Amino acid sequence: MKVLAINATSRPKQTTSQLTLKALEGAASMGAETEMVLLKDLDINFCTNCLACYQDHESEIADCTIDDDVRGVLEKIKKADGLILSSPVHSGFVTGLMTTFIERACFTMVKPTGEVLGMKGCPEPRLTDKARAVATIVSAGQIPPELRQYCDMGTPWLQEAAAMIANGSSMGDMYACAFFPHQLNDEEMTRAFLLRELTEEQFAEAFALGEKMARAIKDDEVGPYDPAAFLPEGVET
Ligand SMILES: Cc1cc2nc3c(=O)[nH]c(=O)nc-3n(C[C@H](O)[C@H](O)[C@H](O)COP(=O)(O)O)c2cc1C
Repeated sequence: MKVLAINATSRPKQTTSQLTLKALEGAASMGAETEMVLLKDLDINFCTNCLACYQDHESEIADCTIDDDVRGVLEKIKKADGLILSSPVHSGFVTGLMTTFIERACFTMVKPTGEVLGMKGCPEPRLTDKARAVATIVSAGQIPPELRQYCDMGTPWLQEAAAMIANGSSMGDMYACAFFPHQLNDEEMTRAFLLRELTEEQFAEAFALGEKMARAIKDDEVGPYDPAAFLPEGVET
């Protein structure tokens, strides 16, 4: 059993990385072989909309005309049984590193042959060999979970992207806002991102998420991508 994390932080030792590694530790405690890929270390270029991948409806991973490190990461997803996508919140969304990677994974891992709500040409996963457990981790600044909607537009998008490219179902998402060693004064508030700390509870949540993923894989309880799971409230298939 392999659990892969793709991490879109620029800081290999800080919050997103610490939480991602903790989730992988949770997966490893259930016997998973784990790996964290740091997108910042790779050569990843923007999609040019040449549509080469889009026209290929046969390959498990469609070829891309850009020769860089993306293909290698997609091959790792294919080999994995579980996929964690993790990112800091930057300007209310996931980082540019993550969106750049997902736009490249879009039609290389997905093909436009699906049908949702009676519409043909919708995306469906290419990797139909197995269903993969997916999860997301985002780390944010000082916005508390109850106000998360104002600074975390990324998680719903990342959840569906993960499920679609890996042909999987979600085991959960983690949102980690900042906690501080003491009540911050006004001056400290202006550099709150630098003073944040992760709590034992947040590490425990990340560990539990990884553990849950690996347990579901082990117990064969992971379902394939289901577009119905991501429809807006009130919309039915
Ligand atoms: C350019 C930039 C934009 C940010 N925007 C937000 C934001 O919109 N909301 C928020 O809660 N935190 C925001 N933050 C804070 C980061 O989400 C937070 O510090 C995160 O934990 C950093 O993760 P890292 O330690 O892996 O780099 C921003 C940070 C940067 C550098």
